[in-house]
Amino acid sequence: MTILSLKDLRVGGYSWLSLPRVVLLGSIALMVTGVVSWWIVRYDADAAVVPTTAGLVEESRRLTPDDRQEWLRITRGLLATESVQQMAAPVEPINNRGEATRVELGYLLFFDPVISGDRTTSCASCHHPDYGMADGMARGVGIGGHGYGPQRGGTGRELTRNTPSVFNSAFNNLQFWDGRAATLEEQALIPIFAEDEMNQTSVAELLRRLRAVPRYRQLFASAFGHQSNGDGSEITLPNITRAIAAFERKLNIVETAYDRFVRGDDTQLSTEQLRGMVVFFGQGQCAVCHIPPHFHDGVLASTGVPVSLEKGAPLDKDPGFGAVIRRRDAFGQFKTPGLRNISRTAPYMHNGIFRTLEEIVEFYNDGGGRGRGVEVISQDSKVEKLNLNSQQKADLISFLRSLDNLESSPAVPASVPSGLTPVGR
Ligand code: HEC
Ligand code: HEC
Repeated sequence: MTILSLKDLRVGGYSWLSLPRVVLLGSIALMVTGVVSWWIVRYDADAAVVPTTAGLVEESRRLTPDDRQEWLRITRGLLATESVQQMAAPVEPINNRGEATRVELGYLLFFDPVISGDRTTSCASCHHPDYGMADGMARGVGIGGHGYGPQRGGTGRELTRNTPSVFNSAFNNLQFWDGRAATLEEQALIPIFAEDEMNQTSVAELLRRLRAVPRYRQLFASAFGHQSNGDGSEITLPNITRAIAAFERKLNIVETAYDRFVRGDDTQLSTEQLRGMVVFFGQGQCAVCHIPPHFHDGVLASTGVPVSLEKGAPLDKDPGFGAVIRRRDAFGQFKTPGLRNISRTAPYMHNGIFRTLEEIVEFYNDGGGRGRGVEVISQDSKVEKLNLNSQQKADLISFLRSLDNLESSPAVPASVPSGLTPVGR
């Protein structure tokens, strides 16, 4: 057989490239190209099937409840499709870099009742370590109250809103239920001078009291003084709020079973919690507003919380953000709260009417206030009937508990510079 060579391609001479052979080789080449391109197209199509949240949730409907490996695969897939981030350190303002001396000072100020008008109430009276840096009550009790937590009694006026936890407040882009403060420094001013909270009557009086305490003169000098002569001139209102805020920025729940799972440790969540995570991202639509890693979206929404849990109760009268921007269509809008440590900070919502996570989940499952027949002015469209079955509800609650970290509370200081007794000592 002639070997194919340049010589063979000679025009006119006998050639290996005779017509029948050209036809045969041509057809083989066409077939090969066909098969190869079919394979490439197919392979590409496979690669193009990037999992989606909806697809994974759909797949999960076919799983048996205890097929752990499959639930792991689905939840890992959800973390990827939702681009879930890990926790990072909170951002500190340029003029308040979390210096240790400020944190220490802020810690003592937070627990010192000397700040309040009648020297009875500290921040910790309402934000106490024993109650997840909140108070365990539906609505807080202000100045005139005694003690802390649900036993707090006395003549203090009941506040209009539930006390939020200070944990992770460093990650809030809005402070207060209605978002009326932006930073922790700005926030700290408000309770000090609020008549029914700490009722400090004047800035001059507050500064005079702190300047009279030698230990505070020292602490402020080391936290804020450069060439201080220790005369208390560093004791100013902005520095008080900076120190308190610096302390609050250290109160972070960043190490939970959920966080360890996100970092790759499969053993951290039970199968029930894995299923609950699928409800959270999927049918429950919780992650639309409670976005990880902080489990809030930094904005406000109305879920239609009624004034009480009694049948037929109307919408809560608190206008929330509606009063801040003076618009009726924002009536009843509140900040989406973060959900870290959530099982420790009952009761829930801005008016504290929900006592348990079970009650909360029932509320969302019914479609919020409107779904329960409450006349709501501007309920968010993502709060709608969910049709969760009883297992999905239990799984969801179990997942929420994976956001707890029971060990991270600060200790109540043994003493505070004013010599008064810190609440809980
Ligand atoms: C009498 C109880 C009480 C005292 C005392 C008190 N707070 Fe609060 N705190 C509340 C309540 C209630 C709210 C929610 C008010 C609102 O949203 O309008 C709140 C809100 C906050 C928030 C916003 C958290 C969030 O998620 O929006 C921070 C931070 C905070 N307080 C810190 C402090 C500091 C610091 C002090 C001391 C200077 C203090 N609180 C004193 C009851 C109290
Ligand atoms: C439209 C956004 C949105 C969706 C969707 C949503 N939430 Fe909320 N969530 C909020 C807002 C806003 C509040 C505060 C409402 C108030 O106090 O009036 C809240 C409050 C909560 C609270 C109370 C927190 C506290 O500290 O008091 C829990 C718990 C909660 N949501 C869990 C869930 C779960 C579970 C789901 C899914 C079934 C869900 N949320 C879906 C916006 C949303």
